[in-house]
Amino acid sequence: MPAVANPILNFLRQQIEQEIREHGPIPFSRYMELCLYDSEFGYYSRNAAQFGKAGDFYTSSDVHAVFGRLLARQFEEMWRAMGSPARINLVEFGPGRGLFAQDVLDWSEKKFPDFFHALLYSLVERSPALRQRIAATLSRHIECDRARVVGVYPAGGPVSNVIVFANEFFDALPVEILSERGSLRIALENGHLVETWARPSPAELEFLDRYSVHPEDSKRLEVCLAAQQAMDRIAASIERGFFIAIDYGYTREEQLAGRHRGTLKAIRQHSISANPYEAPGEQDITADVNFTALAAVCAKHGLRIHKLITQAQFLMGIGEANQFADAFEECRLPQERAKGTLQLKHLVTPAGMGESFHVLVGYRGVAQETAKSLSGLSFGRKQTPDKNVLKT
Ligand SMILES: C[S@@+](CC[C@H](N)C(=O)[O-])C[C@H]1O[C@@H](n2cnc3c(N)ncnc32)[C@H](O)[C@@H]1O
Repeated sequence: MPAVANPILNFLRQQIEQEIREHGPIPFSRYMELCLYDSEFGYYSRNAAQFGKAGDFYTSSDVHAVFGRLLARQFEEMWRAMGSPARINLVEFGPGRGLFAQDVLDWSEKKFPDFFHALLYSLVERSPALRQRIAATLSRHIECDRARVVGVYPAGGPVSNVIVFANEFFDALPVEILSERGSLRIALENGHLVETWARPSPAELEFLDRYSVHPEDSKRLEVCLAAQQAMDRIAASIERGFFIAIDYGYTREEQLAGRHRGTLKAIRQHSISANPYEAPGEQDITADVNFTALAAVCAKHGLRIHKLITQAQFLMGIGEANQFADAFEECRLPQERAKGTLQLKHLVTPAGMGESFHVLVGYRGVAQETAKSLSGLSFGRKQTPDKNVLKT
């Protein structure tokens, strides 16, 4: 059967071709930017159907509300570590549909009323369609001024008493791709998108020198300058507080050992495609996060960085004290408990998301001993070797 042309896909494709005709070959990051965030036809701009089991991918909050509930517990502990200020700003970058925020807000209201009373939850979401969706999901909290949703984090000076959180945000930011042949450009040849290579920019070369390795043996590497810029703004905005990023990614040390090269993926209906050019705007494009590079930006701004830990260590640390009761609150039947156990396992076991996802925590204005004793940062400290995220 002949393929039925998707008018949306065609329109974005034409727009990309037009830009190449007008300006010449475009950097890969520009191509990725248009595919994901073109204001009308970008993958994230059009609708919210890409998330969840029925969509293209799922994230931790799709697995079970316990992810947000455990983080609520950790945020409340951080708030206390800051001396329980009358106002605590929780800022989430790239919240998607707002499921995580909903779990955090609802659980805080129920379990941590003092923290909830002090809380102002800001969701910074670039996609207008997702912002609309969030506004509907969180309407009750928005009406009470407990939450607000914005497209860009409001400019202003550094904020005191703030917790900045990002789950799977940095992996969705546009990357450059480098190989021995140079920096990737997308050109147009006989109506086809083709790859060409340009001389790498000084910024790209500096990134490789400091935070990554140089490409060899026809392998590709990603350089995420957009993530560096986002991290720069976030770190500068924290006068006193914490930064927590959860994502799949790697350190430079791991790259030096030969791993995590060429991590770019296109994802559609839960399957990974090797071809990011196949259906512009119809598939997600993502790359693993370089935690060494993000940590270096935090350190440049004077944030103290905790050693990189796995999602398993982080969640186990938060949940072990009450044996993960947060996962079983509504379970009445044994089958419900069994289902909850399986979902929890998916978040913490190596076969699920426990080992591939890592947690980067930075902080400022909080004593190191206090930060290190937070439950999420204390699990199995003696048993696990340090992953030195800042070693370059
Ligand atoms: C992979 S999704 C993750 C969604 C959510 N955090 C979760 O775990 O389900 C990445 C999200 O980041 C958003 N995003 C990308 N760039 C952004 C930016 N510069 N500012 C705010 N949000 C952004 C995307 O629109 C998308 O909602």
